[in-house]
Amino acid sequence: MNPLVDPAPRGPLLGVNIDHVATLRNARGGAHPDPVEAALHALRGGADIITFHLREDRRHIRDEDVSRLREQVRAPLNFESALTGEMLELIERARPRMACLVPERRQELTTEGGLDVLGQLPRVREACARLAAIDCRVSLFIEADPAQIDAAVQSGAPCIELHTGAYADAVEAGDQATAQRQLARIREGIARARAAGLQTHAGHGLTLRSTPVLAAMPEVRELHIGHALVGHALFVGIEQSVRDFKACIESAAARPAG
Ligand code: PXP
Repeated sequence: MNPLVDPAPRGPLLGVNIDHVATLRNARGGAHPDPVEAALHALRGGADIITFHLREDRRHIRDEDVSRLREQVRAPLNFESALTGEMLELIERARPRMACLVPERRQELTTEGGLDVLGQLPRVREACARLAAIDCRVSLFIEADPAQIDAAVQSGAPCIELHTGAYADAVEAGDQATAQRQLARIREGIARARAAGLQTHAGHGLTLRSTPVLAAMPEVRELHIGHALVGHALFVGIEQSVRDFKACIESAAARPAG
C-alpha cells in the first residue's frame, strides 16, 4: 500500500511542521534546538510526513536545514513555499516528495489566508507543471472558497490544503457559532474538491481540540500541524506530542461523523 495514495485506514496522515523549532533556535542564533533532530524525533513518535516552510526572509527554516532534512529524513518531505522563481528552483534542487504553495507576506506572523489561485492562474499552472515534471506532488493552500477551489482544479494541481485557521481559532475562543459556520464552509469546500477529483488536506491553527472534527472526515487525507504540536511538546516531549496528535486523529477517524 502507498500511504500517500491509498485511503488512510486510520484517518488522515499527519504532517508535522517543524518551523517553530527553527524559530526557537534562531532566537539565540545558535544550533539548538535543531529542527532536523526534531523531525527525527517526530518520526519516532509516528509522524507520517515532515513539513517545513522555507520563507523568503528565512525567519525560521534555512537553506542548510533543507539540505540536512534531505540527507537525514527518510520520510516524505513536504516543502511549503511561496510561488516565486527562487523557491521553485530550490524545490527543484531539493526534490521533496511533495510541495505546498502558500501565500507569503513579509510582515505576517504566520501564513495569513490562502493562495490566490484564481488571480494568478497561469503562474500557478506553470508551477504545477514544473513540479509535476520532477515527480513532486503539489498541493495548493487555499481558503474553502468555491472560486479558489475551481481555479485549483484548472491549475492541474492534484491536491489542495484547506486553511483551517478561522475554524481552529473559533474553537479555541469558544465561539461555537463561528466555529460551526467555518466548519460548514470547510465541509462544502471538501465536497466541491472531491466532486472535481482533487485530494483534500487541511491545516493551520489546529490543536488537540479542533483536530478531531477534521480527522473524522474521510475525504481529508492529510493534516499539517505545527504550532500546537510543538507547543504541546514543551510539556511532554516531541515524540509524545506526536503520539498524542496521532491518537487524537485515529480515535476521531474510528468514529466518523455522519
Ligand atoms: N499548513 C500550512 C500551509 C501552513 O503554512 C502552516 C503554517 O506554517 C501550517 C499548515 C501549520 O499551521 P500551524 O503551525 O498553525 O499548525
